[in-house]
This record gives sequence, structure tokens and C-alpha cells, in this order.
Amino acid sequence: MEATVVIRSARNVLGSLRVPGDKSISHRYAMLAAIAPGRSRFENFAPGADCSSTLECVRSLGCKVERGSDGSVEIDGIGPQLKAPAHALDCGNSGSTMRMLSGILAAQPFACELVGDASLSRRPMKRVIEPLEKMGARIDSSDGHAPLRITGSKLHSIHYRPPVASAQVKTCLLFAGLLAEGTTKVEEPHPTRDHGELALRAFGAELERSHNVVSIAGGQGLQPLQAYVPGDSSSAAFFLCAAAIFPESNLVIDGVLLNPTRSALLDVLAAMGCRVSMLRVEEQHGELVGTISLLPGKGRYVLIEGALAALLIDELPVLAAIAPYTEGGLEVRDAGELRVKESDRLSAVTGNLQAMGAQVEQTEGGWRIPGKQKLHGAEIESHHDHRIAMAFAIAALRAEGESVIHNAQCVAISYPSFFEDLERVVER
Ligand code: S3P
Repeated sequence: MEATVVIRSARNVLGSLRVPGDKSISHRYAMLAAIAPGRSRFENFAPGADCSSTLECVRSLGCKVERGSDGSVEIDGIGPQLKAPAHALDCGNSGSTMRMLSGILAAQPFACELVGDASLSRRPMKRVIEPLEKMGARIDSSDGHAPLRITGSKLHSIHYRPPVASAQVKTCLLFAGLLAEGTTKVEEPHPTRDHGELALRAFGAELERSHNVVSIAGGQGLQPLQAYVPGDSSSAAFFLCAAAIFPESNLVIDGVLLNPTRSALLDVLAAMGCRVSMLRVEEQHGELVGTISLLPGKGRYVLIEGALAALLIDELPVLAAIAPYTEGGLEVRDAGELRVKESDRLSAVTGNLQAMGAQVEQTEGGWRIPGKQKLHGAEIESHHDHRIAMAFAIAALRAEGESVIHNAQCVAISYPSFFEDLERVVER
């Protein structure tokens, strides 16, 4: 089904909202619940198709999974040993499902197959295959791509330095390390989101962190968890960026994740001149949650590179999409990983910005985008990528004339009610 959505220009972004539960945390909670014997329960579990793929896999691996109409999910964990699935595990569009679940499957006493959609089947899997094979698993793939056939085995620990900064790889190896003999160490080139570590601790495991090395001892048992999943900060990013480009905006987002490895966007928006406040901050199972309030302002040129680019990897498309409207413009470097996301996000952003009449220079690992530009409405191609569709729905709000987003249904990967929620805070 192809859905097109028309976005008209707006005057303002005003009001308050909550965003759906965090996708990264939901995946991890569901996978760990499977190997924590007993009933886990999660409120505000991420409603998107990606986390449904994880839940379906967990069900196929022998766990009872119930989804309430109130957004809750209950999982009866049976692990650490799961049941051999009767058919291939379908990860859909979800790289997180395929990469992180592989860490658990590598330690199971059975073989199984992981498949994905066309986009996922193009994404690199060597980054998990290589270390998991070093730990003792056997993984057959199509030249480093899905489908993956994982033959599990008794794993042994390794000290691994992933060549790319990837939270999915780190989490995969920590999950495998939990089920392996000895102490597994992952040494990151740059810090990445730490939900894997925090979730493991919330389920009762012990981990150590020293500088950029995380260590986990194998053989620790997990206990089930009851938790509320905080609002997804990468979903909140679209609304914050929308508010940032209208001088009269005033936006409040409640119950949102404020984990420091996910909130670098707030510093960037502050550098772009916004007044950003965090209120009522509290900790839930190691994760910080609170309210963000944003008032726009005029800022300076912003450069994102190195470690910051890795932390902002999911927010870069929307930052680039609003960059032409900012005072000082934006330059992004070291974000070559954008090429291997759900789409080639570097080129997708460049193409859509150019369609809107923007001046943008695509570089090897990012873009140079001058500020103070005027854009016009255009035909936007989502490339079936949820974050591209949402990023350009935001850019379209400040363009002159209407924009049409093609294949906009892909927002359901992470945020099924995105367009409805956007309409609630946009003033025309
Ligand atoms: C994620 C990590 C990131 C991110 C993805 C979710 C996670 O990918 O782009 O949307 O939950 O660990 P990489 O770890 O591959 O950079």
C-alpha cells in the first residue's frame, strides 16, 4: 500500500505532547525478558512495527507474549535456553532485531534462520557475524547480509574492538557475553547509547565500565522486570526541530527519555539558539526521564563531527532537514554510517533538500548546509525510511507551498501516529 501525505506550511508549533515509548529500550527489554524466567511487564512499550518484529521473534522462540490495548506488553520468559523456532524468524525492517537477537541466538543449542525485508537484507551484518564467530557460533550469510543462519553453540568470551561505533553491535556482544563462559569485553571507538548496559542491570546482571570498555561476566541469571518505557527521544526530536524553526513556537514534551547518550540534540538546539530546559527529571531503572521545554532563538553555525556524530546518528536527518532555515547553517562530518541505515540517508536527505530548492553540499561523511535559506514545497521521496519521511514532514512546515510525502506509511516503523500528533501541535 502506498500512502501519500500532504503537508501544508505552518505558522507555529505550540502545545504539549507525549511521544511513544522508546524503540531502543523496548527491543532490549523484550529480548532480555525472553531469557529472564518469569513474567515481565512493560508499560508504554514502543508501538511501531520494528518492536512488533522483536515481539514476534520472541514468541516464535517459545515465550508467551501478550500485548494490551493500553500499550503494555507482558512476556513470560523461559530462558536462558529458548525453544527452536518452527520457521525462519522475520525481523522485518529492524536492524536492531536482527543484530541484537543474534547475540542471544548464537548461544542457543539449535540452529535458526533470521530474515528481513529488502532494506534490511541490504544492511551490513558482518559487524555481528565476525565477533560472534570468534565466540564460537557459526553464522552463514549471503556475503555478510541476511538471511543469516545461526548455528548456536557454547560460547567463550572475547575482548572485541568493533571497527564502527554501534550500540547494536555492543548490545549483541553483551547479550552473547551474558550467555558465554568467561568475561566478555567490548571496547568502543566512540561511546554509543548505553541502553543495553542499563537494561542488563535492570534485569539483575552486573556489568563494569572503565573508560570505553564494557565488561560482562557470563553465566549470570536474570530476573524478570516490571518497567515503564520512557518516551522515545528520537521521536521527540522531530517536534523539537519543528519548534526550533518558528520564532513564536513554545513546545513541551512530557515523559521523555533524557539519557545523556541520547540527548545530544538538546545541546545542538541550544547552539542553534533555542532555550531548552529539562524539568522534573527522575530515574527509572537506570534511565533518566523528564519534561523538555523549548523556546526558539537565533544561534550560530553548528559543526557536528566525531563522537558527537555517532551519538546523534538517528537525529542527523531531521537536523539536516531544518538546517537551511537556521541562522548559521550546519555542517556534519564523520556520519558515513548514515549510508547503511534503513536507506542511504546521506543521499536521501540531499535529494529531498534539493527538491525543495535548498543549497546543500554532500560530502564524504555528511553535508554542508548554509542557513537563512527559503525553501519551497516539493514531492518528497521517503525511500521507505521512517526517519526520512518524518524529517521532511518537518522541513515542509516552513516551506512555501505544499509538500507531498510519498510512501509516508513507513512512519509506522517507529511512530504510527506521527502525522496525527504533528497536526495537534502545528498552528496554521
Ligand atoms: C540503535 C542503534 C543505532 C541506531 C538505531 C538503534 C540501538 O544503530 O541507528 O536506530 O537501539 O542500538 P547503530 O548501533 O548500528 O549505529
